[in-house]
Amino acid sequence: MHERGVGGQSRPGHVYLVGAGPGDPGLLTLRAAELLRTADVVLVDHLVSAEVLALCPPGAAIIDVGKQGHGPHACQREIEDRLVTEARAGRRVVRLKGGDPLIFGRGSEEALALRRAGVPYEIVPGVSSALAAPAYAGIPLTARGIAGSVALVTGHLACGEPASIPAADTVVVMMGIANAGAVRERLLGASRSPSTPVAVIERGTWCDQRTVVGELGGLTDLIDANGIRAPALIVVGEVVRLHRELDWVPTVRPISSTKQ
Ligand SMILES: C[S@@+](CC[C@H](N)C(=O)[O-])C[C@H]1O[C@@H](n2cnc3c(N)ncnc32)[C@H](O)[C@@H]1O
Repeated sequence: MHERGVGGQSRPGHVYLVGAGPGDPGLLTLRAAELLRTADVVLVDHLVSAEVLALCPPGAAIIDVGKQGHGPHACQREIEDRLVTEARAGRRVVRLKGGDPLIFGRGSEEALALRRAGVPYEIVPGVSSALAAPAYAGIPLTARGIAGSVALVTGHLACGEPASIPAADTVVVMMGIANAGAVRERLLGASRSPSTPVAVIERGTWCDQRTVVGELGGLTDLIDANGIRAPALIVVGEVVRLHRELDWVPTVRPISSTKQ
């Protein structure tokens, strides 16, 4: 039932759980582009660029199922039911998600629903914002002699998730802007010094990306004073000090587009 992604066009009755990348359409994978060009139906999240959606054929149904923040469980269930219904109707279905579908993307829940329903699926990894936004800000998540480990953590704790922060040299916090005060307390509680460097990267890889840097103790002030809004992520650790030297993205960058 579960088939490996070996290339080729999308097939009727299949669902493709596809990562759209973090924003810059140039970071879309070749496999994702190939599947979008032959899709009948695309269920899309709100963090996907218009340039990426422009790859879909004119007759494709593009359904916006984007959730701002965390919608109620019923919304997720509706998405899963829709995927199954569309596939059973013999359509080529792409479920397009921002970044990577399995990094805080609920892709695993959708894959499980498809498996339970007997619908064949393929998972197409995408470039996660967790990796791309820091790279576009000139912040390496690992650097020899500075950071040898990375943890990706959520700032939005669902029921039952541990609040503890793992011991890693660099911590990337996703979905953490609304709860920045609690995120700071969790990090301080995990023995991070208030003077630990932090960067907040808003709309990473989009043409209007912004990066602000400060210290962990002043995280909420940094966010408030600069009017930072989601989508944004927080990078915590000594690697942030490299931003000043390695920042490379021009303030105004033309939006790249993929070739058809
Ligand atoms: C529900 S998670 C989805 C993550 C996605 N699956 C990925 O791999 O990038 C949404 C969070 O990802 C982060 N995020 C997504 N796109 C971003 C971007 N372009 N710049 C900065 N953070 C981003 C933000 O922390 C946002 O709250």
